[in-house]
Amino acid sequence: MSLATNGIDFGAAVPRAEGGEPGARGPERTHLAAQGVTVRYGRNAAIKGVSLKVPEHRVTALIGPSGCGKSTFLRLFNRMNDGIEGISIEGRVFLYDQDIYARDTDAVALRRRVGMVFQRSTPFPKSIYENVAYGLRIAGVRDRSEIARRIEESLVGAGLWDEVKDRMHDSAMGLSGGQAQRLCIARAMAIRPEIILMDEPASALDPIATARIEDLISSLKSRYTIVIVTHNLQQAARVSDYTAFFYMGELVEFAPTQALFTNPGESRTEEYITGRFG
Ligand SMILES: Nc1ncnc2c1ncn2[C@@H]1O[C@H](COP(=O)(O)OP(=O)(O)O)[C@@H](O)[C@H]1O
Ligand SMILES: [Mg+2]
Repeated sequence: MSLATNGIDFGAAVPRAEGGEPGARGPERTHLAAQGVTVRYGRNAAIKGVSLKVPEHRVTALIGPSGCGKSTFLRLFNRMNDGIEGISIEGRVFLYDQDIYARDTDAVALRRRVGMVFQRSTPFPKSIYENVAYGLRIAGVRDRSEIARRIEESLVGAGLWDEVKDRMHDSAMGLSGGQAQRLCIARAMAIRPEIILMDEPASALDPIATARIEDLISSLKSRYTIVIVTHNLQQAARVSDYTAFFYMGELVEFAPTQALFTNPGESRTEEYITGRFG
């Protein structure tokens, strides 16, 4: 056991999904890990002693009723909780073997590796081009042809290029809700992160736009590790490889998605997924 990783074996395989995809997928490396994490807002503990390993190049869903701590937990991975008044964080959070909350960890550099897409897709009141370029400039990309290349690459990746390529300099405010959400995903992708955190990315969208986002998420996992918060159980079942069920700040169960939904190990999980509360 090395001190640097505090006992987390980053080479270790996490359990493979039973009856999962055909063909050997190989061992899964842990990309993000929480170890004994407690988060309090003042005296109120929103996350209570949670340990969880997020595997690389998989989609991990965080589910549970409103207020159970999903967003708080997600935000730990790119330090988006930093600066909230009265917050305290105990325990450790890792990106590979890097301690995310170590004194010498640069939060700006961390957010370049761990991108985030929020529930409300809010393009800036600027052009489509500028909306994606913005994040690149923040990340220090100055070269104009490099910016143009990355904008196209990320819009293609987000499945939006064909719809916007002839109106890149029109206002992003003219996009539909689903297009705006894909624009925000492109904005996150343009920085070329390793990980994309998504907090209820489809909760404000109609079923067709939601299906497009779900297809996109599935297509992205070959290149990114994705952690998605959703209160939509069918969505978690459709898009994720692993599911973590949170209840009142505790991690009740973490398992391959298929196993969690068909054969939950905990009675509270079963009650939740069968709709007896939530
Ligand atoms: N900025 C904040 N200040 C104080 N309490 C907060 C803040 N954000 C969330 N909380 C509280 O923490 C708990 C978990 O919230 P949250 O992480 O948003 O849950 P979820 O995303 O599952 O709905 C809730 O009780 C909520 O009221
Ligand atoms: Mg939330």
